[in-house]
Amino acid sequence: MIILAIETSCDDTGIAVIEKKNGKLKTLASAISSQIEIHKKWGGVYPSEAKREHQKNLIPTLKKTLRDSSLLIKGSLPKPEKVNEILSREPFLLEETEKFFSKHKIGKIDAIAVTVGPGLEPCLWVGINFARTLSLYLNSPIIPVNHIKAHILFFLLEKEKIKFPSIALIASGGHTELVLMKSLNRYEVLGKTRDDAAGECFDKTARILGLDYPGGPAIAKEASLWKPQTSKNFEIKLPRPMRASANYDFSFSGLKTAVLYDFLSRTKREQKNRDYIITMAKEIEDSITDVLVFKLKKAIKSFGAKTVILGGGVTANKTLRKKVRQLRKDFEKTEFLLPPFSLSTDNGKVIGAAASIEKKRKKQEKVVANANLKIYDKL
Ligand code: KG4
Ligand code: ZN
Repeated sequence: MIILAIETSCDDTGIAVIEKKNGKLKTLASAISSQIEIHKKWGGVYPSEAKREHQKNLIPTLKKTLRDSSLLIKGSLPKPEKVNEILSREPFLLEETEKFFSKHKIGKIDAIAVTVGPGLEPCLWVGINFARTLSLYLNSPIIPVNHIKAHILFFLLEKEKIKFPSIALIASGGHTELVLMKSLNRYEVLGKTRDDAAGECFDKTARILGLDYPGGPAIAKEASLWKPQTSKNFEIKLPRPMRASANYDFSFSGLKTAVLYDFLSRTKREQKNRDYIITMAKEIEDSITDVLVFKLKKAIKSFGAKTVILGGGVTANKTLRKKVRQLRKDFEKTEFLLPPFSLSTDNGKVIGAAASIEKKRKKQEKVVANANLKIYDKL
């Protein structure tokens, strides 16, 4: 089975071709168009602008993926009648798609996978409408994919089976959740953030400090420069929000406020002082990763997890990975699965991986976006 997978839930346009053969997955090709340079200006993602960029990026990203997987064939395909209606809100994409199919055909694709939620609604719709269009041109069914599940199921690209119960920590720009998995299809949310997501906290505090978007990598870079003498003039101790709470919930908006208050209490000269920025970045990174790892440890213990899975953009954080490696030593019988950096942040491969275990196929008209989709929702 060959799956063409599409991801557009936030600011990355990702397309991948995944092959499933004898239960094993193989990536035939994968391409990502990042919009970071566009969103840097604003220090965050504007959905309408992100939607416009997805429209521009989808056909070039598709072409690259198809070329790399030898599925791009010279020729042409007739335009199905309903395409004008499906892409009526994406006129640029409609035009580009028409041009594409006037010169190309596509090799055999058995299903088209697409993220239907959670995510930014306008962005989800571009991906879905593009998938619906391809589904008509290629006469292939669609597999709707839950974005959070995809962040967890990255491991299917590397191994077929894991042991249950399993605990998954998803930490990204939009989500922070601890999930109990009893099988590949049974998910229970143990706790989640009550306000900002972990990645959002990195992004917002980076902005306060005048660092680039996305804030996670920017803060991590500053924090990596820290040495004990860096902090000699700056004593900063941020809270570890909800660490002492009896549940598995998180809260990061108070941390952001604490950073803002500290920043505002400093003189202009101090605010720009490199040692101040580095000390603060380190403390932010430590606070966020401490809380994540603390609650993860509690969940592993309580549920006797046989497997621990980490997913989402924040799991690219080296300090977090170091703390998780440390945690591993306390649970020798538990298998820990961390995504390689390329699979931490949004991409098409994990969407294809999540689709590979779904039996349900849908006709294009039945596929809709759900910005608030929950991990346990049926699709
Ligand atoms: O999973 P993802 O690509 O998109 C969402 O589904 O949200 O995650 C993006 C988030 C951003 O908030 C970004 O700042 C954060 O992941 N991130 C990091 C790192 N790399 C990306 N956070 C901390 N350290 C990193 N190295
Ligand atoms: Zn994501």
